Amino acid sequence: MTKKLYISTYGCQMNVYDSARMADILSPLGYSLTDQPKNADMAILNTCHIREKASEKTFSELGRLRNMRKAKQESDKGDMIIAVAGCVAQAEGKEIMKRASYVDMVFGPQSYHKLPEMLAEASRGAGHILETDFPVEAKFDHLPNEAIDKNLSAFLTVQEGCDKFCAFCVVPYTRGAEFSRPTTDIIAEAKRMITAGTKEITLLGQNVNAYHGDGKNGKTATLAQLIYELAELDGLQRLRYTTSHPLEMTDELCQAHRDVDILMPYLHLPVQAGSDRILEAMNRRHTGAEYRRIIEKLRGYRPDLALSGDFIVGFPGEAESEFEDTMQLIRDVKYAQAYSFKYSPRPGTPAAALESQMIPEEVKSERLSRLQALLNEQQLAFNQSFEGKAVSVLLEREGKREGQLIGRSPYMQSVYLQSPPHRIGRVATVIVEEGNANSLRGKLKPSSVADAA
Ligand code: 5AD
Ligand code: SF4
Repeated sequence: MTKKLYISTYGCQMNVYDSARMADILSPLGYSLTDQPKNADMAILNTCHIREKASEKTFSELGRLRNMRKAKQESDKGDMIIAVAGCVAQAEGKEIMKRASYVDMVFGPQSYHKLPEMLAEASRGAGHILETDFPVEAKFDHLPNEAIDKNLSAFLTVQEGCDKFCAFCVVPYTRGAEFSRPTTDIIAEAKRMITAGTKEITLLGQNVNAYHGDGKNGKTATLAQLIYELAELDGLQRLRYTTSHPLEMTDELCQAHRDVDILMPYLHLPVQAGSDRILEAMNRRHTGAEYRRIIEKLRGYRPDLALSGDFIVGFPGEAESEFEDTMQLIRDVKYAQAYSFKYSPRPGTPAAALESQMIPEEVKSERLSRLQALLNEQQLAFNQSFEGKAVSVLLEREGKREGQLIGRSPYMQSVYLQSPPHRIGRVATVIVEEGNANSLRGKLKPSSVADAA
C-alpha cells in the first residue's frame, strides 16, 4: 500500500538535496511524494535557520499540520507522523519538543539516513524522537544507491559544514565542521545521475570550494581536481558548483574556468560587505581589494564569467560610509545576479552579542532598498546585453503558455522560448530577443537545433 509523504523545504539548495534524499530513503518503505499536506501519512518540515523568524515560521507551520492531522483523524482517514528536519531542528530540537509536543520526531541534517529506524520507533509508539548528533560520514554511507535525482539539472552534495565562523552565521553551529565526501563516491553518484538522464550537475557544499575529499592513491583531492575528473564523464554537458568562499578561490580553481569547457561561466561568490572594517568584524578574513583581485583573476581566465553574490546590510556598527563601500564594490564588480539581506542577529553567533551597535530597522530597510535598486539595475543591464546574441540553452521543462519551453543559459538566466516539448533535455542555440529583469526571451536558431545533443 502506498503512503503519502509531504515534504516542505525551506532555505538553501542543500536542503533541496536533502529533501530529495529523504524521499529516496522512504520510497522503499512505500512512501510516495504528495504536495497535499492534508492527506499525508507523514509530513516533514525541512527547515532553514539562516535568517530571521525561522523558528516562528516553523512553529506556525507545525500548528497548521497539527490541525490537518486532527481533521484527518476525525474523518477516519488515518494518522499523520509529523517531523521537523534541517537546521532549525538541529539548533532548537529540544525547544521544539517542548513547545510542540505533538511533533513525533525532530532530526538534524546529519541524521536523515536513520529515518527508517526513527519511523519504526515512532510507529511503535516509542514517544518522541530527537536525533541531532553530528556523525557526518555516516549520513553519506547510508544513502541508498538508487539515490538518483532524475532532473535534467540536479544537485550533488560533495561537502558539508563550515569552519569559517563568519560572525553573523549559524551554519558552523547547525551544519557542523567541514566534511568532504571521497571522490570515488561522488563520481559513482554522478554516473548514476547521468544514466538516469541528468545533463547538468551542480556540486553543492556550504563551502564547496574548500572541498578536500579523499582522492586517488591516498591523496586529498581539491574541488578543481574533482571538476577535471567529472568533466571526463560521458554524457555530462554542464557542471556548476556553489557556494564558494573567496579565501578558497585558488589559482587552480580559477584556471579550471578557462580549461574545462563544461564548467559553466557563472560563479556565486559572496562578499557580504565592501568595507574592510566591516569585513574584519564579520570575520571574513579578506579585504575588499583582495576580493576585487580574485574577480579580476577569474575574469582574466574567463572574460564572460557572470558573478553572483550575497550581501548583508546593517551589520552592527555599519556607518553610512561603510555601506557606501559596499555600493562601490558592487559598482566595480558588476553582478549578473545577487541575494541581499538585512542583518538579523542569530542567537549564539558572535555578532548577536554586539547589541549596543545594532542598526535601527528603518536604516537597514533604507540601505537594503538602495542596494537592491543598484543590483536590479545591474541584473537588467546584464540580461539586456544579450539581446540579439545567441546563447546555448539547456531546455528543462514546459512553460505555462502553450508551446513554451523554459531552460537555462550558461549564465544561469532563465530563458523562455517556443519549441516543441520533445526537445526537452537538449541543448539548443537560442537567439535572444529580449532581456528582462529576471529572464531572457528568445527563439530557437533555425539551423542550430542541436537535435543530436
Ligand atoms: N543576517 C542576515 N543575513 C545572513 N546571512 C547569513 N546569516 C545572516 C544573518 N545573520 C546571509 C549571508 C549568507 C546567506 C546564505 O545568508 O549573506 O551568504
Ligand atoms: Fe556561514 Fe561564513 Fe561559513 Fe558561509 S563561509 S556558511 S557565511 S560561516
